[in-house]
Amino acid sequence: MRDILVAGNWKMNGSSAANAELVAGIVGGVPAGDGFSLLVCPPFPYVAAVVEATAGSPVSVGAQNVSEHDKGAYTGEVSPGMLKDLGCEYVIVGHSERRSLYNETSGQVAAKFVAAQAAGLTPILCVGESLEEREAGTTEAVVDEQLDAVLDAAGIAAFGTAVIAYEPVWAIGTGMTATPEQAQDVHRHIRERLAGHDGTVAAKVQILYGGSMKGENAAGLLGQADIDGGLIGGASLKAADFLAIAQAAAND
Ligand code: PGA
Repeated sequence: MRDILVAGNWKMNGSSAANAELVAGIVGGVPAGDGFSLLVCPPFPYVAAVVEATAGSPVSVGAQNVSEHDKGAYTGEVSPGMLKDLGCEYVIVGHSERRSLYNETSGQVAAKFVAAQAAGLTPILCVGESLEEREAGTTEAVVDEQLDAVLDAAGIAAFGTAVIAYEPVWAIGTGMTATPEQAQDVHRHIRERLAGHDGTVAAKVQILYGGSMKGENAAGLLGQADIDGGLIGGASLKAADFLAIAQAAAND
């Protein structure tokens, strides 16, 4: 059975003081039990402080974005090696906000995925369709294009040390969660597509759901066969809300 990963994507929120309070609340309230792990992804400037504040706790730290380049003249960018150096273990790549607001292409996302792994980070690859795409019946085609770009660049074996997050764009920050069945259908499709390349890797990879996940709907989503955790935005900004999802993972 796959472990559950409960990951908080803080997006561009927080401050030194607020983060200290949030992390202390999370670290102090980790539910008892096993079979799940917790991750927080603060904005770049706070990564080092959050790594320090979570040291010795079961909470891991990741970043929200990364450059596809190792080093050099890329003003404003942060390399995978720098994140690794700071103590990051994970990095989100291809979040829909990066794809839509910053025009990241699937090819660029794939390059980030490869660069992150080369530096020893575990990429969390985000895929998902917009409302228009869902209504047009192209959800699977959209997800396939996003997935295949990474399969082409990195190969199936790379998914042995990666995480996928299915995040329907229409559910992100809208309060409109996908139903457990809607999410499960796409998660199953993703796993089957990977299984077409390698059944062992497909059976092992964690596929998280993201999009208005909260304490009240977490158990239903996590109860689905192919949903192995959550990538949580809004509900990751308060310790009690995040821990309610962690508790659902511990109960699963
Ligand atoms: P949300 O964000 O939980 O606020 O919908 C999820 C995400 O964007 O990762």
